[in-house]
Amino acid sequence: MQENLPILEDLDTARLPHSECEGRSSVYLETYGCQMNVSDSEIVASVLRTAGFGLTHDPLQADVILINTCAIRENAEQRVRRRLEFFRARKRKHQPDLRIGVLGCMAERLRHKLLEQERLVDIVVGPDAYRDLPRLLRHVEKTGQSSVNVELSREETYADIAPVRYDSNGISAFVSIMRGCDNMCAFCVVPFTRGRERSRNAGTIVRECQDLFNAGYREVTLLGQNVNSYRDGPVDFATLVYRVSLLSSELRIRYSTSHPKDCSEALLEVHRERSNVCNFIHLPVQHGNSDVLGRMRRGYSSDEYRALIERARRICPGISLSTDIITGFCGETEAEHQDTLSLMADIEYDHAFMFMYSERPDTYAARKYDDDVPEHTKKRRLNEIIKLQNSISLKKNKEEVGFVRTVLVEGPSRRSETQFCGRTDTNKMVVFDRGSLQAGMYAQVRITGCTSATLFGDVVTL
Ligand code: 5AD
Ligand code: SF4
Repeated sequence: MQENLPILEDLDTARLPHSECEGRSSVYLETYGCQMNVSDSEIVASVLRTAGFGLTHDPLQADVILINTCAIRENAEQRVRRRLEFFRARKRKHQPDLRIGVLGCMAERLRHKLLEQERLVDIVVGPDAYRDLPRLLRHVEKTGQSSVNVELSREETYADIAPVRYDSNGISAFVSIMRGCDNMCAFCVVPFTRGRERSRNAGTIVRECQDLFNAGYREVTLLGQNVNSYRDGPVDFATLVYRVSLLSSELRIRYSTSHPKDCSEALLEVHRERSNVCNFIHLPVQHGNSDVLGRMRRGYSSDEYRALIERARRICPGISLSTDIITGFCGETEAEHQDTLSLMADIEYDHAFMFMYSERPDTYAARKYDDDVPEHTKKRRLNEIIKLQNSISLKKNKEEVGFVRTVLVEGPSRRSETQFCGRTDTNKMVVFDRGSLQAGMYAQVRITGCTSATLFGDVVTL
């Protein structure tokens, strides 16, 4: 392990000023995909800054452009390719010494292909090799030759690196607690791109959360591909969440992503006991039919999942739930699709992320099954589940009208400077008049209206 990386120190100084590049190579970082990638980019920013590189938010100012990529679905990769082509055109026409790098899951999946066949990039770095980035960049600078490190690790957790909060709002931060995934769901490329599961040392996680709180942050989201299987010696995930929750009652705790097969009763008890552990869980079901879940190798049946939801609602009344759903998986019949709609109607998620199945090379599904649901059928089924979910989300949001909710103020709303937005502990976005509020405060907001995606309200002075 390299030694001179920053330890978890005053994170105030770790937020990125807009111009810090004078006289140095400046790096522009763009991030696609999941929250884990956002968190990884903060680690990359830290590694680079410590090694003497400058960071910029302006791609036109950059000597190096790094794209942190996602490989989860074909269309995610296509977006990245279009972006790479855009930067490559700029390099050709205007800036021949511009260096372009691909980080993350696509780098891991495509490796040398990105350099050789497609000649799109100069640097290819997988998710476990970010400590090596400075060396790789200098190698390219010196020799003009491309460089690659896509080695996966069984140990790397970047535990000692203080992330540079590159795009942060200063209120809400991601804290990576584990890396990789051992689940091997049939459809998923993640175990191939991010390697074996490993947990970060609990002490460093608690310290990072404490430092964030000291620096003014009021919400942490503990991140991993499968947080429920977190383990550091005697510390399991429920214990870790409990420990973080003791830091301050003013610090909200969220986490993502849970796997239903190991969401423990102890964790649900922590939600109930600790008011700052948000009353919200993202619990991806993926499908409503047990045969499809079997083919997906998810490790639970539809009934087992329903029982888990019942347990969660019994232990934590009013808990808000979101999910991920894949439609059009290999062999999915119309009746199986109907089972997804029925499960959604029964459970009534507050929110859902819904996707058409996209075959990923080398996965179990790609090797063993035919991707046989026609595209138009996938699209139609996706539209049906989106329509159903929108009506459920609207109904759920309407139920909020009239209640006063505690909202953590995040900052100006997207539409107007005079309005602020923030979330309830059930993860619902609320927009309200700014008044004398500041980001980071907790406000009591009476909900007065809604759409399926947003609540509107008035701040109540108590
Ligand atoms: N096709 C479509 N969706 C996928 N997901 C993962 N792999 C695929 C795939 N091959 C979805 C799952 C997962 C979310 C992050 O992305 O629903 O929970
Ligand atoms: Fe992919 Fe399944 Fe691991 Fe999630 S739990 S990252 S869906 S293999």
